[in-house]
Amino acid sequence: TQARQQRPEQHPIQVIAHRGASDDAPEHTLAAYRKAIEDGADALECDVRLTADGHLVCVHDRRVNRTSNGRGAVSALELNALAALDFGSWKDRDETESPDWDPVPGELTSVLTLERLLELLVETRAGGRPLQLAIETKHPTRWAGQVEERLLHLLKRFELDAPPPAGSPSPVRVMSFSARSLHRVRDAVPHLPTVYLMQFVSPRLRDGRLPAGARIAGPGMRIVRSHPGYIERLHRAGHRAHVWTVNEPEDVELCVRLGVEAIITNRPKQVLAQLGRS
Ligand code: G3P
Ligand code: CA
Repeated sequence: TQARQQRPEQHPIQVIAHRGASDDAPEHTLAAYRKAIEDGADALECDVRLTADGHLVCVHDRRVNRTSNGRGAVSALELNALAALDFGSWKDRDETESPDWDPVPGELTSVLTLERLLELLVETRAGGRPLQLAIETKHPTRWAGQVEERLLHLLKRFELDAPPPAGSPSPVRVMSFSARSLHRVRDAVPHLPTVYLMQFVSPRLRDGRLPAGARIAGPGMRIVRSHPGYIERLHRAGHRAHVWTVNEPEDVELCVRLGVEAIITNRPKQVLAQLGRS
């Protein structure tokens, strides 16, 4: 199609597992990420927050109430307290075809640190699979740069901040709804890809431009459904589109038709099957 021809790069659509294979296993746990890798996802998505003692953990909500047996804000809890919680039992195992996580708390369903997830990424890549990770900074404004500082420190420790060899994609990218957060990342490591997430398109960005510091656009599926022409505008402006959260077959179909570069989904297995890649 016309839109497809305008894609800046002609690679197959990347399938990114949102919070891991989070339809099948409890989100942001090792169980969900291992399942996503087993399902064949090209990349993993995670949200990161700072604990009271300065560790980055993969938790979506401000509080742990929904996804664990504990209560309270991540920012008010130390890692030791979070490590004592069970992040798996809230998820109904009966809904899952063959649950591979144990209802007894253990590593598969305890709080996942970004450090542990980076280890999994590095191990998987060392095994020859070019897995990538998209890390979303949550509430970076509140922490005035500490989230990005800690994140970049970890990337350096795992040697994931070096420029990739020519022609290869970066193993890691940073996503945020905060342009300021992306700016901080780009200032510190200019070659690291940055994705500007959008729930709606602000009037000054309707022509496909992105805020300074952002390289890739991350529009929500709602934007894509209601303004399909926006993807073409992004492409004309030279930006790639990574769309979230694409779970329904008709949404996958629309994304394919519009030529988006990546689909972020809770159901990597089903999406890969629909794309004829399973
Ligand atoms: O991948 C982007 C998407 O995760 C943003 O929304 O609320 O799921 O973090 P949210
Ligand atoms: Ca997210």
